[in-house]
Amino acid sequence: MSLTIKPILPRFGAEVSGVDISKPLDAATQAGILAAQNKWGVTVYRNTGLTNESHIEFSRMFGYLERVPERAGALARHKHRELFDAGNLDPAGAINRDPAAILYRKGDRLWHTDSSFMPLRSAYSLLLAHEVPSKGGETWFADTRSAYDDLPQSMKDRIENLVGEHSLWWSRKQAGAPISEEEIDARMKARHPVVHVHAGSGRKTMYVAAHMRDIVGMEREEGRKLIRELIAHATQPQYIFSVKWNVGDMVIWDNLCSMHRGGEFDSANERRDMRRTTVREAPAPDQPDDPFSELFASVPKPVDRTEKRHA
Ligand SMILES: [Fe+2]
Repeated sequence: MSLTIKPILPRFGAEVSGVDISKPLDAATQAGILAAQNKWGVTVYRNTGLTNESHIEFSRMFGYLERVPERAGALARHKHRELFDAGNLDPAGAINRDPAAILYRKGDRLWHTDSSFMPLRSAYSLLLAHEVPSKGGETWFADTRSAYDDLPQSMKDRIENLVGEHSLWWSRKQAGAPISEEEIDARMKARHPVVHVHAGSGRKTMYVAAHMRDIVGMEREEGRKLIRELIAHATQPQYIFSVKWNVGDMVIWDNLCSMHRGGEFDSANERRDMRRTTVREAPAPDQPDDPFSELFASVPKPVDRTEKRHA
């Protein structure tokens, strides 16, 4: 089986064809897929024929798969804990009308890297389209390696040893969620270098995202100005492209050398069912762990207003 690789931008993104990824793959084909992924950062596979099971099975060649938290709600729609729900449907499969869930999803429309708010970073995300809206709902990708390459030397020197602090709730606040700085302070955060070497390609890259709230040791407003400046730089037209989805398409992106954001669509009236596996950067843990459940456990329970009224 020989892979056909068609670049999307000169340095970033490629459509891969000539392989049936719904079937078991030999070692040479797997190596070719991984090499293409590491070189291009984002790869697009059209009309894959993948099911939940074969999606998960294919994903395992990239590494250890993250598991969704064990909790009731939108994420409990699939029995597979390896599938993150990235669409707009509720647990019963209808369009989600819960204002909190809608607001939560708005944060995904900002440029981000998946799970940068976790101490253990996510490497690859593999998103499969099950249902797509008739208009919009595309996904945009940004090339943080080339954006880093093109920075002036003075900026490379300035950010070389900086560390960013990331919080899931910071991106939600940016998207309009009513949460205070103090509430974010009280919840789980993670720190990661702003610049790192992308292991898959040996190229240096920025690791920035809408989740990045502060630069460690830098005055808050100065740090936030720098974060906005770096994200704006990396999302200029020469570094970005969008993927228009059809049912069955799979896009794999490497969170360690790219950012992405969801495109607008009529989410109140159109269904979008997207399911994602996510590969942890670190190898499989010795003991089963559950960091996403720990993350959500760090959120204080909402005040029960009924009880208060009767107190
Ligand atoms: Fe995402």
